[in-house]
Amino acid sequence: MTSHTATAIAHPNIAFIKYWGDQDPKIHIPANGSISMVMDCLSTKTTVTFDPDYDSDHLIINNKSASQKSLARVRHFLAVVRNMANHQLYARVVSENNFPMGAGIASSASAFAALSLAASKAIGLNLSEPELSRLARHGSGSACRSIPSGFVEWTAGEDDITSYAYSIAAADHWDLVDLVVIVNKEHKKVGSVEGHQIAATSPFQNSRVSGSQVRLETCRQALLAKDFGKFADIVEFDSNLMHAVMMTSHPPLFFWEPASLELIKQIPHWRKKGYPVCYTMDAGPNVHVITISQFAGEIKEKITRIPNIINVLYAKPGPGVRLGDTLTFY
Ligand code: PMV
Repeated sequence: MTSHTATAIAHPNIAFIKYWGDQDPKIHIPANGSISMVMDCLSTKTTVTFDPDYDSDHLIINNKSASQKSLARVRHFLAVVRNMANHQLYARVVSENNFPMGAGIASSASAFAALSLAASKAIGLNLSEPELSRLARHGSGSACRSIPSGFVEWTAGEDDITSYAYSIAAADHWDLVDLVVIVNKEHKKVGSVEGHQIAATSPFQNSRVSGSQVRLETCRQALLAKDFGKFADIVEFDSNLMHAVMMTSHPPLFFWEPASLELIKQIPHWRKKGYPVCYTMDAGPNVHVITISQFAGEIKEKITRIPNIINVLYAKPGPGVRLGDTLTFY
């Protein structure tokens, strides 16, 4: 085999019903199912080259050699791909993002989704969408939701075969916008990998997980019916439940900055005044403010009046992972 290369592009996703904690941490079988939206505009582009002349794996992120921690994660993932293809070649992985990493925007989701397609193609595998989603899950759980397009549900399942994500509505189903409010660009101190491991130490995790079927059902129905009021209530509730688990685990995890809390307090007031708007937060201080595109300008103006906001990114429902090499910088 000579050298083989493939390039893929993927986007992060924002969860409306959250994944937090695993049944099987080794292969990221989640404690509960989740629902998300692919975020257009924010992108990761990854090129993978397998070459018989390489004597180890290399990882370059945003033009710099990656940390040992990131390299170890990618090596672990490449071992899964090599095993599937029955090849023992090393790879060079070159990845670039057009958004800040490690600040509550799931960079690991777009990274492992792009890596799944680029690595599997480069090594000669032609995987179906569910197969790619299962593969991406090995890198980072939420990456399995960046394989399909638009609005996506990840069925928790119980093993490697039954746990994968699929689209429940196309990207043009609902013109939602995610205004990602950046309040802190620092790389987060405790990542989701460690967070999932301690989720079960919170006395609230069992109750969060046992109610998840009902929340998934409510969220899916609200999304499909484009019922913003019902959608807003369940999305905020689910985010609050996850953060309650985070804050009560051992050790406790507090991701909110003063500006995050200010937004969480303001947004329900804006909704009471008639604006279709709600919030959700991942494992970081940034707040994802979800609205409908025609209100995005007005909502952005309200957001920027709050002190200590660094930037507001704009994401629409986006496409799934694909081969290609054109990465637009916004
Ligand atoms: O896939 P991970 O390990 O990055 O975990 C994602 C966890 C959250 O972003 C907090 C929630 C979610 O469902 O995306």
